[in-house]
Amino acid sequence: MLIAPSILSADFGNLAADVKAICEAGCDFVHVDVMDGHFVPNLTIGPVVVTSIAKVATKPLDIHLMVQNNSFFVDLFAPLKPEYISFHIEEEKHPHRLIQKIRSLGIKPAIVLNPHTPAESVEYLLEDLDMVLVMSVNPGFGGQSFIPNVLEKIKRLKRLRDSINPKCLIEIDGGVSDKNIKLLKDVGVDVCVAGSYVFKHDSLKTAIDNLKI
Ligand code: DX5
Ligand code: ZN
Repeated sequence: MLIAPSILSADFGNLAADVKAICEAGCDFVHVDVMDGHFVPNLTIGPVVVTSIAKVATKPLDIHLMVQNNSFFVDLFAPLKPEYISFHIEEEKHPHRLIQKIRSLGIKPAIVLNPHTPAESVEYLLEDLDMVLVMSVNPGFGGQSFIPNVLEKIKRLKRLRDSINPKCLIEIDGGVSDKNIKLLKDVGVDVCVAGSYVFKHDSLKTAIDNLKI
């Protein structure tokens, strides 16, 4: 299991220190939640702050867009050379075109599915994707409870993924902890995002190690 701590639960007054600390504690990616106050009822950070994060991060960035006007935000974040940019399929009229654009910028494209969005919605996009991010909470906030019926969706997605593009990773985001990580591994999750579980733990290293199963 690859681990992508979400800095949404970090101390924003000490963001550089927290980003360094999760990298030193052995995470695989730094998950950055970008919210615009329109697609989701919350606002987070833009390219100015993420530039500072990128300077201190020793692990690649995994940027999760929760915005309207995805293409505009891709242009804003592309110069920071993240490993992944993921966008919500519910908010994109031309997902295939945007996937091509992200790839042309040298970034791995990923699509995010809200809890109500079926696995099959990415069937004809899978061959062009590097990752599918399955939301296991409604996007917008950290610290929410895991929605269990997402497990069934991941099983379906894994079947599609295995037959169409086995190299495409399956990532999960929301309510992940040491309590459900084994279940997630068993249904086929490759990458887990965890915010509150990691940052509320006494030891970042122990929290990350507990998820690396
Ligand atoms: C929610 C964000 C998540 C969030 C996860 O919209 O996409 O990345 O930070 O937080 P936890 O792990 O606390 O559910
Ligand atoms: Zn996220």
